[in-house]
Amino acid sequence: MNNKDVSVESYRQFGEFLQQQCGISLGDNKQYLVRSRLASLMHQFNFDSMDALIAGTIRGGNRSLLQAVLDAMTTNETLWFRDSYPYELLINTIFPALTAQNRRLRIWSAACSSGQEPYSIAMSVLEYQRTRPGSLRSGVEIVGTDISSSMLDKCNKGTYDELSLSRGLSAERRQRYFKANGGGMQEVIPEVKRMVSFRSLNLLNSYAGLGRFDIVFCRNVLIYFPADVKTKILQQIAAQLQPGGILFLGASESIGEAASLFSMVKCHPGLYFQKKG
Ligand SMILES: C[S@@+](CC[C@H](N)C(=O)[O-])C[C@H]1O[C@@H](n2cnc3c(N)ncnc32)[C@H](O)[C@@H]1O
Repeated sequence: MNNKDVSVESYRQFGEFLQQQCGISLGDNKQYLVRSRLASLMHQFNFDSMDALIAGTIRGGNRSLLQAVLDAMTTNETLWFRDSYPYELLINTIFPALTAQNRRLRIWSAACSSGQEPYSIAMSVLEYQRTRPGSLRSGVEIVGTDISSSMLDKCNKGTYDELSLSRGLSAERRQRYFKANGGGMQEVIPEVKRMVSFRSLNLLNSYAGLGRFDIVFCRNVLIYFPADVKTKILQQIAAQLQPGGILFLGASESIGEAASLFSMVKCHPGLYFQKKG
């Protein structure tokens, strides 16, 4: 066995540990995935084998090692205005229905990765308000959360390279919502940035401190969790939603056993879930 190989027993223990820490289930025979994601951490944290790195992580006591391992094992794939339809529905259907209310609208991007999702929501709010002056007068607050501290750093910086800007942004939006910050990066303009705040949150923990929301985006993260964890997360999200509040899941995700808590609203294109009651 090579020192970068993961033994059967280490893989089993790491799978249990990962599931308990962040809900992610590795499944069988993904040693190659663990190896490729954690290889660079072996040197960074001075372990002489992958099994030693895994044992050190499970043993605990090194917060930065734990965070680096969770960062490496979570998939952060995201893009601007992902799947288009949630943002079109916000602008064409959902904001018009909510605009009459006399309080601040609150929107949560749960598992926001590097920030494209909450910033796309903020841009949609501005676009809606531009075409309907005086709408959503009490303001909109967007909260982005993620388990990964390195992703939250990116969110807070709000600077993006050419590759990430090329994914999902029209030339017009790029021109309108970004400015060059030197070094070949583009930064989200202050008008968009100040609408969004970011917090660390593990979806396996309590959400009570976040307050109530009108709209929740929980997209492309539930797929990593086993059914019972997914149901519990959806129940907790329902508890944070206002009556009639709206939930967007990823385009390929289903509501599963939490179906009794939500009505499915089919649109053309796309769909969302509305909290019952
Ligand atoms: C594939 S990205 C989805 C980003 C965005 N929602 C989208 O649809 O483009 C999944 C995100 O879930 C986060 N994540 C994974 N497990 C988590 C957990 N237990 N709690 C909170 N966030 C988690 C990862 O750090 C990652 O940023």
